[in-house]
Amino acid sequence: MLILGIETSCDETAAAVVEDGQHILSNIIASQVKFHEPYGGVVPEIASRKHIEVINQVVVSAINEAGITLNDIEAIAVTYGPGLVGALLVGVSFAKALAYGRRLPLIPINHLEAHIYAVYLEYPQINLPAIALVVSGGHTEMILVKELGVYESLGRTKDDAIGEAYDKVAKWLGLGYPGGQIIDRLATTGNREAIRFPRPTIKHSKYDFSYSGLKTAVINYTKTTHHPLPVEDIAASFQEAAVDALVSKVMNAVQDMAAVSIILGGGVAANSRLREQLNAKTTGKDIALYIPSIVLCTDNAAMIAGLGFHKYNAGNRSDLSLDVNSNLKWEKWGEKWGKMGTARKMGTAPYF
Ligand code: KG4
Ligand code: ZN
Repeated sequence: MLILGIETSCDETAAAVVEDGQHILSNIIASQVKFHEPYGGVVPEIASRKHIEVINQVVVSAINEAGITLNDIEAIAVTYGPGLVGALLVGVSFAKALAYGRRLPLIPINHLEAHIYAVYLEYPQINLPAIALVVSGGHTEMILVKELGVYESLGRTKDDAIGEAYDKVAKWLGLGYPGGQIIDRLATTGNREAIRFPRPTIKHSKYDFSYSGLKTAVINYTKTTHHPLPVEDIAASFQEAAVDALVSKVMNAVQDMAAVSIILGGGVAANSRLREQLNAKTTGKDIALYIPSIVLCTDNAAMIAGLGFHKYNAGNRSDLSLDVNSNLKWEKWGEKWGKMGTARKMGTAPYF
């Protein structure tokens, strides 16, 4: 079955064609980074406008590159949340129009669930239960995966996402945007024990995170220290604090939940120290670590189309009343694709 996936939740306009939830025939990503770079972060209004400009071409490219025609597409999967409301609206409106015009089924996709699914595109057999960590510019979420479609949210950031903290610290240090990769690179030549920054944890909350305090600590350090250490040391020390919290909480969750795998997703999964630490903690133990290729870690539509296949087979579709939900939450999904996995209500509009 050929599914077209569409993703516009943040600053990447993406479309992909995936066969049977597994074989990626095309995976087109138009990044908007250069338009947001002057501002040191994603500007929602710019994101929406840029999505509108390129979405048609991105979808056409995905179909052409797959070597098929629009007639071959059998369903459309689209991200409807969480994300930037204006950005989400572009993808959802486009998907609805195409579904209506072609009389195709429309499958609503939770962006975070798709980040977890990304790993299945390269590793179809994952031993469960797993602890999934979705870390990006917009999210820091830890989720227990009982089976595909059955989840329990364990914890999340209470303020800044980890990628956001990287980007803001890099901006403050005048390093450029996006900051994650730059700090990661600088940190390789710095001393990670040079400065003991606070770990972004929350007292009395076992699996939640708080990255805004760490960001402020770095800013205060540079403001109040007369002779600050070299930027490489600041970067390495910041990174150590940022990663330390993630790794220790994930390992705690693995133990508490008797998980047998760890799944990593989101742009921050590219981080070298995070990979190194998780590798070190899992090697030699009966815990499998799954990290997708970088192109599948960052926002992409292959993960949307891939997950769409399974949701379609489970009867999880939407009619044309599908709306975006910028705050789409993870709750306890007790049964397969429980209530939050479905677009909330089925209206009276055509349902194919
Ligand atoms: O998933 P993504 O492409 O977009 C969303 O945020 O949805 O993630 C981008 C984020 C940015 O905050 C970027 O700074 C961060 O991922 N990032 C990294 C690294 N590469 C990208 N953070 C830490 N280390 C990296 N190597
Ligand atoms: Zn994402």
